[in-house]
Amino acid sequence: MRSYRLALIGFGNVGQGFAQILRDQGPELVRQFEIDLKIVAVSDPLKGSAYDPEGFAPAALLDAVQAGRSLETLTATSHGWDAERTIASCNADAIIELSYTDLKTGEPAASHIRQALERGMHAVTTNKGPIALHYPELSALAHRKGVQIGIEGTVMSGTPTLRLGVDLLGAAGISRVQGIVNGTTNYILTQMESGAPYTEALAEAQAQGYAEADPTSDVEGFDAAGKTVILANVLMGTAITMKDVDRQGITQLTPADIASAKAEGQRWKLIASVEKTTDGVKASVRPTRLLLTHPLASVSGPTNAVTFTTALLGDVTMIGPGAGRLVTGYAILCDLLAIARSTPAGH
Ligand code: HSE
Repeated sequence: MRSYRLALIGFGNVGQGFAQILRDQGPELVRQFEIDLKIVAVSDPLKGSAYDPEGFAPAALLDAVQAGRSLETLTATSHGWDAERTIASCNADAIIELSYTDLKTGEPAASHIRQALERGMHAVTTNKGPIALHYPELSALAHRKGVQIGIEGTVMSGTPTLRLGVDLLGAAGISRVQGIVNGTTNYILTQMESGAPYTEALAEAQAQGYAEADPTSDVEGFDAAGKTVILANVLMGTAITMKDVDRQGITQLTPADIASAKAEGQRWKLIASVEKTTDGVKASVRPTRLLLTHPLASVSGPTNAVTFTTALLGDVTMIGPGAGRLVTGYAILCDLLAIARSTPAGH
């Protein structure tokens, strides 16, 4: 039996989705994977913080926040710890970094991850900011410290993408990755094609928990650009930055554009693309009109898809959920299982 004590830095949608998975499937995880995952600390700037070295029942954490009670009301050893204090003082083997995404600085998440890795803790995150901006540095630090950094949920949430690309397609020679990697914009475009106004579709994407705290990041293509950087750097071993992505969002698209594409048997999609060329890696995010027969044209709503173009297998496409609390929480579980598998005598 492997046992991991976890500190959750941030307890919003994704943290609660992950806690829900542990609440509902904890005993099954023990039975099937011989892994015991215990949340010993949670620190959230709005929901409060609580630390108990023996761990909390996930249901107790969820019941508190879902009833609108602060985590400070739980029976615990310590309260009032901010993220830094939690990472510095708790007994966790891994932090789960889920603070808000900032694609301009990657902070405060990048500092939290650095601090945890320096302390010899594994770090798992679904936060795109620190990974789009600092992955080469953070993964080198993890390597030096003999720990791991799990980032599966940063692209396509829990739908296998990065580990699939690295572990199973790496040797097939990936030359291009192209797809729909932002759930919010894909949902908006789908709703607009059915006649919904843009603002209503965006409000619904926010209500469903797909959109970023500041949805400008979604609709102007920054979120997709961040994921494009991650795909390039993780799968193609390059070190491109946000500036290297030729980016355009969906805000220029009018209902008339969408209707005229529809009348011609076509559909607008926000397509992210990264491709190896003789001039280096080329990356872009831009609205693209696809024929309805194109494989990505039928990917609708918050669903995402990527097609890996490889030398040995040709095109391999993965389609699945790209945003949402449980599906992103699932990515955290996959990273922890992967860490457990690859550190047989680890901690
Ligand atoms: N805002 C993001 C999206 C969340 O809509 O895809 C998942 O990364």
